[in-house]
Amino acid sequence: MNSSDTTASGKTIDFTNGAVDQRTLRDAFARFPTGVTIITARAEDGKCEGITANSFSTVSLDPPLVLWNLRRDARSRLGFTSASHFTIHILSRDQHRIAKHFATPVVDKFEGLSVEYGLGGCPLLPDYLARFECKTKDIIPVGDHFVWIGEVVRARYNDAEPLIFSGGRFAALAELDKWMCWPL
Ligand SMILES: Cc1cc2nc3c(=O)[nH]c(=O)nc-3n(C[C@H](O)[C@H](O)[C@H](O)COP(=O)(O)O)c2cc1C
Repeated sequence: MNSSDTTASGKTIDFTNGAVDQRTLRDAFARFPTGVTIITARAEDGKCEGITANSFSTVSLDPPLVLWNLRRDARSRLGFTSASHFTIHILSRDQHRIAKHFATPVVDKFEGLSVEYGLGGCPLLPDYLARFECKTKDIIPVGDHFVWIGEVVRARYNDAEPLIFSGGRFAALAELDKWMCWPL
C-alpha cells in the first residue's frame, strides 16, 4: 500500500521501489546544519592523513566516546584504518579556507602547514575551537561508509564561535545570543 503525506510541502523522495536518488537525498540531508571538523591521523607507515568531516557526533560521557564516518572509497581510508588514534579539530568561524583545503584530495595536505604531533603521532593543527585526541575503539563498516568510534583521551577548547555547514555552504552563526539558553 502506498502512503502519502498530503500536508507535506516541498520535494518528496520515495525509496520504496529500491532506487536511491543520491543527489536529492544529499540535498535533503544537507538541510541538517552541522559544525565542521578536520580529522587527522598518522598511518602505520608514518604518513599523515587529514580530512574535513561534518559527520562528527558525541556518543557518550562515561566513557567519553565520539564517532565520525568516512566514505568507503576515500583515498585516506587505509591510512585512517591503520592508525591507532585520531584527532578531531572542531573549526572556528574563520577557518573555512582550511576546511576546503582538507576536503580536496591531494597527496600531501600537510605540505606547508605548521603542525605539532600528539597522541599516536596525529598531526595537531594550531588553530581550532575544540580539539579531541582519541584512541580508536572500533571501525564499523556501514553501507558505503565506515564509522569510527573513538575514546577521548585529551580535550582542549577555546572560547570562540563555530564554523557552520548548511545546505552545502559554510556560514557563521548570526543569532547565537538571541535564543533561549539550554543548560549544559
Ligand atoms: C563540510 C564538509 C564535510 C565533509 N564531511 C565528510 C564526512 O563526514 N565523511 C567523509 O567521508 N567525507 C566528508 N567530506 C568530504 C571529504 O572531506 C573529502 O572527500 C576529502 O577529499 C576526503 O579526503 P581524502 O581524499 O584525503 O580521503 C566532507 C566535505 C566537506 C566540505
